[in-house]
Amino acid sequence: MSLDQLLAWTPPGSPDETMARQVNFEQLPAHIAIIMDGNGRWAAQRHLPRVEGHRAGIDSVRDVVETSARLGIGVLTLYAFSVENWKRPWTEVNTLMTLLKRYLRLELATLHENNIRFRVIGRQDELAPDVRDELDVGIRQTANNTGLLFNIALNYGGRAEIVDAAKRLIAAGVNPDDLDERRFGEFLYTAGQPDPDLLIRTSGEMRVSNFLLWQIAYAEIWVTETLWPDFRRRHLLEAVLAYQKRDRRYGGIKPSPVVVG
Ligand code: IPE
Ligand code: IPE
Ligand code: MG
Repeated sequence: MSLDQLLAWTPPGSPDETMARQVNFEQLPAHIAIIMDGNGRWAAQRHLPRVEGHRAGIDSVRDVVETSARLGIGVLTLYAFSVENWKRPWTEVNTLMTLLKRYLRLELATLHENNIRFRVIGRQDELAPDVRDELDVGIRQTANNTGLLFNIALNYGGRAEIVDAAKRLIAAGVNPDDLDERRFGEFLYTAGQPDPDLLIRTSGEMRVSNFLLWQIAYAEIWVTETLWPDFRRRHLLEAVLAYQKRDRRYGGIKPSPVVVG
């Protein structure tokens, strides 16, 4: 995808257009991971029940998925439900699962038409059968697509993922002498995917809440005060532009400029 793809969908003269033109397409994050937070606060500000915030957040998901695909991002991972979120009232959990099923049913054709591959990361075996069935349809139907890889983190926990990886590698009989970080990564839910370059969290919270703990080792973190239901294309572009100004050193040092003369 390209600038043209993005501009075709951006109102001329809008701030979004100005930002789109600033993006360096040679230096895009290969993987963007987002902690979609603040739905409850968004609803509370409007004196609405929390679930209305979750409902409104679906429009943000649509916008971010489409923008990522048009930008040419390789992988997008959205944190939709953590292993800790079961602590919430049953009615809220139920609404979240219902919204997810509805999102998939309504959006699957569009995802497929846009060559997007849908995946789920998390403990799927603990989800209700009707949710699993809906997810399976989405995964199967888009399995051969070659565009954006769209992961939904559902019943996901970073520590749970590491434990699951350890169990699987023991079951596979991996010799400890053959184990290194690369090999371990092959047992994670995200096997074969690049690590996130950019981690976004909405609604201002300065924590990672058990998200992709292994994979974010060197991710650039960008936190916005914007609540998830208000998050749109321009916020994503803003995050990408901020990311492109970062100086990534991976523990090394910045090469000193060559002094001539
Ligand atoms: C994020 O919004 C959605 C999920 C965690 C499922 P929250 O529901 O956490 O909203 P706040 O943080 O209470 O505002
Ligand atoms: C993180 O948000 C989980 C998801 C976005 C799905 P939470 O709202 O659950 O995180 P905490 O409780 O504020 O850390
Ligand atoms: Mg929250």
